[in-house]
Amino acid sequence: MSVPNHIAIIMDGNGRWAKKRGLPRLMGHNAGMKSLKEIVRACSDMGVRYLTVYAFSTENWKRPDDEVSGIFKIMVLYIKKELAELKSENVRIQVIGEWEKIPKDARESMEFALRETAENTGLQFQIALNYGGRREILDAVKELYRRTEKEGGDIDSIREEDIERYLSTAGSPDPDMIIRTGGELRLSNFMLWQCAYSELIFRDVYWPDFDKKELESCIAEFEQRHRRYGGL
Ligand code: FPP
Repeated sequence: MSVPNHIAIIMDGNGRWAKKRGLPRLMGHNAGMKSLKEIVRACSDMGVRYLTVYAFSTENWKRPDDEVSGIFKIMVLYIKKELAELKSENVRIQVIGEWEKIPKDARESMEFALRETAENTGLQFQIALNYGGRREILDAVKELYRRTEKEGGDIDSIREEDIERYLSTAGSPDPDMIIRTGGELRLSNFMLWQCAYSELIFRDVYWPDFDKKELESCIAEFEQRHRRYGGL
């Protein structure tokens, strides 16, 4: 199976997965972390170059405090448990979004993971934390405006690539496909600039039920669409 170069995922449905089982929402996030583990390994094994996951949006702060702090605790746990294996599989962890604003212990463990995997050349695993697509574009435009003003540059000669250079994804290619689980059919402020030509693939399964088989079915759908367009 040929695989997409860059897969991005909106991991939705942890809360509903838990509710359906009469469990607290955090148990859903915990189960979601296990899915993530399986998908990272599958992508790495299949030779996907980039995997970007929406782990915490700028809107997620509106959730109850204990759920927010619980999600970050799960992240710290994930790093603690998985870092050695990620390192040995040559996975490089990166973070996008305004993640300097996340709780201190989560930030520190992420910083550690970034340092420890900085030299790895296999799967580039990008975690979106305190990420919002509009905010990302706004910040890029502000920075570009600042630079242009300072350097006395010509506004009319600003190109798309100049905006791209200030996005938090600078240097990585746009996603070939964006998968959303959980049955909702929208992007929810995820990778708004980068999604311009991405295939959008929606699955009606909650994220904790999304496994390697589901991923393969998404890739098959992606390939089928491509073959069809290629034949025109
Ligand atoms: C969406 O489900 C999921 C989240 C907001 C959090 C996802 C976080 C993890 C899977 C842990 C991540 C760990 C790392 C290391 C990145 P939801 O709560 O919105 O589900 P609902 O729509 O059913 O309520």
